[in-house]
Amino acid sequence: MEKANQTSPLVRFILLGLSAHPRLEKTFFVLILLMYLVTLLGNEVLILVTILDSRLHKPMYFFLRNLSFLDICYTTSSVSLVLDGFLAPQETISFSTCAVQMFLSFAMAGTECVLLSMMAFDRYVAICNPLRYPGVMSKAAYVPMAASSWAIGGVASLVHTSLAIQLALCGDNIINHFTCEILAVLKLACADISINVIGMGVTNVIFLGRPSSVHLCLLCLHHCYHPEDPLG
Ligand SMILES: *[C@@H]1O[C@H](CO)[C@@H](O)[C@H](O)[C@H]1NC(C)=O
Repeated sequence: MEKANQTSPLVRFILLGLSAHPRLEKTFFVLILLMYLVTLLGNEVLILVTILDSRLHKPMYFFLRNLSFLDICYTTSSVSLVLDGFLAPQETISFSTCAVQMFLSFAMAGTECVLLSMMAFDRYVAICNPLRYPGVMSKAAYVPMAASSWAIGGVASLVHTSLAIQLALCGDNIINHFTCEILAVLKLACADISINVIGMGVTNVIFLGRPSSVHLCLLCLHHCYHPEDPLG
């Protein structure tokens, strides 16, 4: 009964952020706001240019546009909480806001890793099999590739977020972080979090290692097919 109460949607979290250093908060507010605006501007320009310039209507620029769009979503999903936290004397957020933010950040980060490995594959085919490139990287291939990056990131995040929000919380609900970062929230749990931590570790190794492991595998494959070629 006690546990059920504690994980109810009525629970509120306090985000500590930099509240111990009020003077730093103002400085960081300005710095982060500026960086956010530069991020928005840069990515929006890239999206516009790749749409408007017909010479850039190629798979590589489609992926870059998708990456820019993803970066806008990713930064926006956390920066609003961070900036709000710098302004409020004590940032409190509801359980559901925290859960949504946790889901979005994890999903975007996962998507970014998968999308980067898709981009590595695109460049591999373009460089190592230039004659086959137009056939392999047709629109029927690269649109589902981008879409599946979003799907994989979303599903992985859904699994970890739902595992995390089921945990019973211990009491003071103070998150020592700027956002509802999943590991910072897991630290508040009373229950055993080893399953969550191991699961996160495995997912992170797969996601973070993916772009470079795809790259390595492709180099090995290339070497098998063209052993005389110095590139492999
Ligand atoms: C990114 O890719 C997805 C899936 O292919 C697509 O629906 C979306 O429109 C793309 N976004 C941009 C900005 O190109």
